[in-house]
Amino acid sequence: MPHLAINGGPVIRTKPFPTWPVYSEKDAQAVGEVILSGNWGHNTAKRVETFQDRFAEYHNAKHAICVTNGTTALVLALQSVGVGPGDEVLVPAYTFIATAAAVLMVNAVPVFVDIDPATYNMDPAKAEAAITPRTKAIMPVHFAGLPADMDRFTDLARRRNLMLVEDAAQAHGAQWNGRGVGAIGQMGGFSCQSSKNLNSGEGGIILTNDDELAKVARSLSNCGRSEDGLWYGHYRLAGNHRMTELQAALLLAQMDRLDEQTARRNDSGDYLTSKLREIDGVEPTVRGPAVTRHAYHLHIFRYKSDAFGGVPKKRFVEALQAEGIPASPGYSMPLYQQPVFILKNFGSYRHSDASHDIDYTSLHLPETERACFEEAVWFSQHVLLGSRSDMDDIVRAIAKIRERRAELAKTE
Ligand SMILES: Cc1ncc(COP(=O)(O)O)c(C=O)c1O
Repeated sequence: MPHLAINGGPVIRTKPFPTWPVYSEKDAQAVGEVILSGNWGHNTAKRVETFQDRFAEYHNAKHAICVTNGTTALVLALQSVGVGPGDEVLVPAYTFIATAAAVLMVNAVPVFVDIDPATYNMDPAKAEAAITPRTKAIMPVHFAGLPADMDRFTDLARRRNLMLVEDAAQAHGAQWNGRGVGAIGQMGGFSCQSSKNLNSGEGGIILTNDDELAKVARSLSNCGRSEDGLWYGHYRLAGNHRMTELQAALLLAQMDRLDEQTARRNDSGDYLTSKLREIDGVEPTVRGPAVTRHAYHLHIFRYKSDAFGGVPKKRFVEALQAEGIPASPGYSMPLYQQPVFILKNFGSYRHSDASHDIDYTSLHLPETERACFEEAVWFSQHVLLGSRSDMDDIVRAIAKIRERRAELAKTE
């Protein structure tokens, strides 16, 4: 008789986990008020400004600039700090496409760096080893909402005279040694796309503590205008990347929940980590003492197939899903193996010249490849909005699969 749900045995859990987004009448009312005011654009009302002030304060930053999405936030941040043609920018290889795409979109060259398997964030030592005379900036990603090692990246950027731009797209509210991420380096970019912990469907935010950089980013988001210039005065080449009042109204309403939701994710995430550590072959990523708040956009553990009778990750994740647990195998390939890099299909963006041509086809970063192909298993942030007994169901399902690993191996 089968014991595992994937083979027709009993299921651990039939109840759904919390869904995303979380909203109420209050959110609808906030957006409805904007509609009924007739002032929908950024130039005609004040909700974008109010949200900017609130988000900046929450992250201990001086300035926030709202834009259309997280990709644009990163592009404008890179442009603002002066990254351009011929420059190299260090990025982790285990991240969403936008991290590297933003670099290409300012006509610079992304240089992929391997991750630290303990955190799945860019490895600072490997970043230092990848620096060349062309390196202009480092762009660590606070992947899964777990802050990258900002002490080491700040020190590295200072020593090597490089700009530090944080990809904080997944890290709303995360803190490194008590300080909000996003403006620890010169600039940072956040995403408010649907899956993110703070969401308005689409949206992006740039943070900085530097008055001059804030002015440049504001101008770049607003058709190249200057704050003290004419409405019909355009001083630098730039598009319209402004956020709408509708988005800002929704973000303000959502922001009321962020603190409590982040606390809940921290409680669930840390609890899940402590319980999963007790199971052989399950190794959650490590949250060091400097991470005073994790955003937990994802909870990630490393799956060691040796401890599961050699069953590959894909099959393990399918077995977990069959038990009613919404696990994901995460990214299916390292970013540098995406067709866009293999084919260098960069359209009209300038990537390199004869003296500077990076070949992505021969690149192999072992930790990133291990994460994609063999080990990384993700849970989305909204799963962590569940109770401790919800987390216990996840633990029970994984323990059951490990106990019945021979059955799973046999039926592969
Ligand atoms: C790490 C990372 N960087 C950048 C982005 C880009 O954000 P957006 O989708 O809002 O453009 C995302 C999210 O999608 C992300 O996860």
